[in-house]
Amino acid sequence: MRTFKMSESGRIALVEEPKPTPGTGQVLMRVRATSLNARDLFMLDGRYPVPPGRVPLSDAAGVIESTGPGVTRFQVGDRVVNSFNPLWFGGPQRKPGQNYHTDIDGWLTEYVVIDEQRLASMPEHLDFTEAATLPCAAITAWTALEGVGPGDTVLVQGSGGVSLFALQLARTMGARVITTTSSEHKAARLLELGASDVINYVDMPDWGAEVRKLTDGQGANVVVEVGGAGSIAQSITAVAYRGVISLVGHLQMNSTGMNILDFALSGATLRAIGGGSRSDLEDMNRVITAHKLRPVIGRVFPFEEAPAAASYMGSGAHFGKVVISH
Ligand SMILES: NC(=O)c1ccc[n+]([C@@H]2O[C@H](COP(=O)([O-])OP(=O)(O)OC[C@H]3O[C@@H](n4cnc5c(N)ncnc54)[C@H](OP(=O)(O)O)[C@@H]3O)[C@@H](O)[C@H]2O)c1
Repeated sequence: MRTFKMSESGRIALVEEPKPTPGTGQVLMRVRATSLNARDLFMLDGRYPVPPGRVPLSDAAGVIESTGPGVTRFQVGDRVVNSFNPLWFGGPQRKPGQNYHTDIDGWLTEYVVIDEQRLASMPEHLDFTEAATLPCAAITAWTALEGVGPGDTVLVQGSGGVSLFALQLARTMGARVITTTSSEHKAARLLELGASDVINYVDMPDWGAEVRKLTDGQGANVVVEVGGAGSIAQSITAVAYRGVISLVGHLQMNSTGMNILDFALSGATLRAIGGGSRSDLEDMNRVITAHKLRPVIGRVFPFEEAPAAASYMGSGAHFGKVVISH
C-alpha cells in the first residue's frame, strides 16, 4: 500500500509498505478521502516539526475492509469517519488527548488498522470526500455552537473550514448568522449558504460595531472566534451581553489581543474550544443527516498530489474544504 510519511527534511514523501492486519477489537479501513485543516499546513511545509516517519493528517473517511476478532460496532462494507480526538469517547474531557499527525500516525495512506471505538458511521447521504471534512472542522464548529437556540444570532468570522460549518450548522439550529470575510466574491457565496449579512473585515476594521448595528444594539449571542488575538477586541464589541465567545483559532496573531476591562463589561464567557468527542461526532452526524447538510468542498486532489493540495490551501484561494481522494 502507498503511504505518505514525514521525511527527514520535514516534507512528506510517498513510501510503499505492507498492508496491516487488524487485531482484536480492530478494523482494517480502506481510506477513501482525507481533508486538510489549517493545522496541517504548518506540518506539511516543515514550519512545525513533526517526527520523521509520522503519517500526516487528522481527518478521514473510508470503508471497513476487514474486521479483527471481537469487533461488534462495524461490519465489512460499513462507511466510517474517524473521531478527531481518538481517546475522547464522551462526557467532559479531563485532559488534552492525543492528536493524529502530531502524536500518532494520521490518515494520508491507503489502509489503516484502527480500534473500532475510534470511528463513527458516516452520514448516509454523503460521499467519502464530503464525509472526510467532518472529524476536525465540523466537530469544532459544532462544539463552538453549544447552547445556540432558535432566534439567536451567531457571528462567524471568515470563510475557512470551521467557519463554513459554523454557518451551516447554526442555520440548522434556527439561528441568524452574520459572517465576515475579506473577499467580495466569497461574500456572495456566504449569502447563498444562508448568512443574513456579510461584513468585509478589511474594508471595515471596526466590524464589531457593525454587528451591533445589524442586531439593533443587541450583539451576537455566540461568536465563533477564529482570528484570535487579532480579532478578539472586535468580538468583544460584537458579542451580546452575557453572550459566548468560542475561541477556536488564532489565524491573526499579530495584535495586542483584548482589553480585559472591555471584556469584563461585556459580561461574556470566553470558552476555549478543543474539537469534540466521538459522542459529539455521532450527535452532529445525526443532525447533518436529518437536515441533509452537505459540506462545502473547495477542491479535490488525487492522492499523489497531496503536497499540491497543501500548497493550494496555503494560497488562501479556497472556498470550502480542500480534500484528497485516495
Ligand atoms: N480549537 C480547535 O479545536 C480547532 C479545530 C480546528 C481549527 N482550529 C483553528 O481554527 C482556525 C481556523 O481553522 P480552519 O481550518 O477553518 O482555517 P482555514 O480553512 O485555513 O481558514 C482560512 C480563512 O480564515 C479567514 N481568516 C483569516 N484570518 C482572519 C481574520 N483575521 N478574521 C476573520 N477571518 C479570517 C479567511 O477567510 P476569508 O478568505 O473569507 O477572509 C481565510 O480564507 C485555525 O487557527 C485553526 O488552527 C481550531
